[in-house]
Amino acid sequence: MTLSGKRILLIISGGIAAYKSLDLIRRLRERGAEVRPLMTAGAQEFVTPLAVGALSSGHVYTDLFSREDEQDVGHIRLARDCDMICVAPATADLMAKMANGLANDLASTVLLATNRPVLIAPAMNPAMWSHPATRRNIETLRKDGIRFIGPMAGEMAESGEAGEGRMAEPLQIVAGIEALMDDAPKPLAGKTAIVTSGPTHEPIDPVRYIANRSSGKQGHAIAAHLARLGAEVTLVSGPVTIPDPAGVNVIHVESARDMLEAVTKALPADIAVFVAAVADWRVSASSDNKIKKKEGEGPAPLELTENPDILKTIGHHASRPKLVVGFAAETADVISNAQAKLARKGADFIVANDVSPATGIMGGDRNRVRIVSKDGVEDWPDLSKDETAARLAERIAENMA
Ligand code: C5P
Repeated sequence: MTLSGKRILLIISGGIAAYKSLDLIRRLRERGAEVRPLMTAGAQEFVTPLAVGALSSGHVYTDLFSREDEQDVGHIRLARDCDMICVAPATADLMAKMANGLANDLASTVLLATNRPVLIAPAMNPAMWSHPATRRNIETLRKDGIRFIGPMAGEMAESGEAGEGRMAEPLQIVAGIEALMDDAPKPLAGKTAIVTSGPTHEPIDPVRYIANRSSGKQGHAIAAHLARLGAEVTLVSGPVTIPDPAGVNVIHVESARDMLEAVTKALPADIAVFVAAVADWRVSASSDNKIKKKEGEGPAPLELTENPDILKTIGHHASRPKLVVGFAAETADVISNAQAKLARKGADFIVANDVSPATGIMGGDRNRVRIVSKDGVEDWPDLSKDETAARLAERIAENMA
């Protein structure tokens, strides 16, 4: 139980995403955390204190001027008698209060009085999230040391509007809390890292594309573990269906060319790990209109052209990161192919794996890799992708030391 014995004060403010906080309470308690809930007046319009209390199996704090609560714990103790405070959802209003030091209800008072780490999961309409006032507040809160998880892009529950503002999913918030509570050493503190992950989609026309079976699981796990060791990570991800890892800056791209552009923009960095299964080829001239099937003419010919090699470009770049790691997914001659790649791509080491269908590695949850460097070949055992990522992050930290 990763949060065993951790005491979390969960502040729920008034947004539709408050319904997800019920699940968040369950997930935190499953991991051994003690959850003390505090609800704003707005939150109680969306979920009831009864439901929140039943799930957290304890008292729900709602009122700054409750004589009973003040005698029992008091707002100052509420603010400090915990290991961390999580605000989920964090509304634009509560963030504005926090940024300006207002204390006119129990939530804002506790947030002003606390000396504990605070993680907030913002949730609001995209227009409110991108408003200059909110942008200013975000900057102030970051400077004050408040950590953020999300918001994510996607459709809004109430208006159907799309854009950034959806609250992070409960499991992502849990991961953010775990990262914050993790008192493990941070050997990569102060270092920056770029990780590519997932497949790329290469358009044929507006509705069709060329893709591959990469899930992004391995790359995302590596990004998360580098962040866990203290690195500031930019993850450039192709189209995947898995959630963004917590504590990582994620840039979503579609094609190889977009990925190269995002990676180049993220330079300089100390570390770069190229895990993405970048499509080697794209359609030379993708059509702006859907290519029509024409009776008797047979299939449309697809002329392919080579994509930029992102690893090779960065491996030989003027601002090449100190440590460059590549992957080599092969179905035959794994080691000799990886060795050839080291020099050709300018990598310090290549993580080689056999992705023959029988291994089940592509899209699966396990991996068995070999680390190929100028010093030789290291065979790693069959591990989960998460364990492989943890080990690789440790290995990278050793190399950077
Ligand atoms: O040559 P190959 O595709 O096997 O090389 C795999 C390695 O190169 C991986 O690290 C992959 O992320 C990277 N790569 C890249 N850009 C490409 C092709 C591969 O960054 N266009």
